[in-house]
Amino acid sequence: MNIELLTRKLMRTLRDDGVAAACRRVVAQLGDPPEVADFDRRHGTDTGGLAPLWRLSIGSPNARHGERYEATDEHELVAALEFLGENLRGYTFIDLGCGKGRTLLVAARMGFAQVIGVEFARELAEIATDNLHRQQASTAIVLHADAADFVFPHGDLVLYLYNPFSEPVLQQVMDHLRAADAGRRYVIYKRPRCAAMLDTSGFLERHGHPPSAPQMAIWRGCA
Ligand SMILES: C[S@@+](CC[C@H](N)C(=O)[O-])C[C@H]1O[C@@H](n2cnc3c(N)ncnc32)[C@H](O)[C@@H]1O
Repeated sequence: MNIELLTRKLMRTLRDDGVAAACRRVVAQLGDPPEVADFDRRHGTDTGGLAPLWRLSIGSPNARHGERYEATDEHELVAALEFLGENLRGYTFIDLGCGKGRTLLVAARMGFAQVIGVEFARELAEIATDNLHRQQASTAIVLHADAADFVFPHGDLVLYLYNPFSEPVLQQVMDHLRAADAGRRYVIYKRPRCAAMLDTSGFLERHGHPPSAPQMAIWRGCA
């Protein structure tokens, strides 16, 4: 258990959101029983529940910029991917901060050429790898690494972010994405706390959001 990280997170919530929000966060994190989501019942996987970062084994100093684990809703992700209007078979899907890998399972099923998840919490990366094996998702891999160090592969990309980290890490990710020798690029960003960084990047422009999933903001490459 990382008490220093827990204290930092609580202080930040207190400062940014006030006492009531901090209390709600503590109750949610201490009292949350592992939820067996409908997705897991159908697929025999383990992707549910909340996992605060202070409970996990993370070797990176960027833990202080990270957000707890909470999975994306399958239907929201499918809506966002369909909204791209692309043939996904030529694309690589990348989830930076993939947690237990629910998005990777969905993306593999939707026919992406390659699916990559990056997760810095050892326990979550192990669960994600196990989930991929259980579902025999052979086009997908999980890298146990810090997203700030991830170098994007060549070719057409869909980058997925579920509000995984704050500006200092996102800035490094954006620098790597800008430098990537990529073809067409999309970024799907759920609950986009740092949307302004993408809006002012100079190489991305707004693509919109699916009507059924307004939390899913989408950008596309424009340079
Ligand atoms: C809100 S969860 C999203 C999980 C998954 N992307 C999904 O949508 O189902 C954010 C995840 O980002 C991970 N994370 C935060 N900062 C990270 C970093 N610098 N490198 C890798 N993973 C990170 C957390 O451990 C957590 O699992």
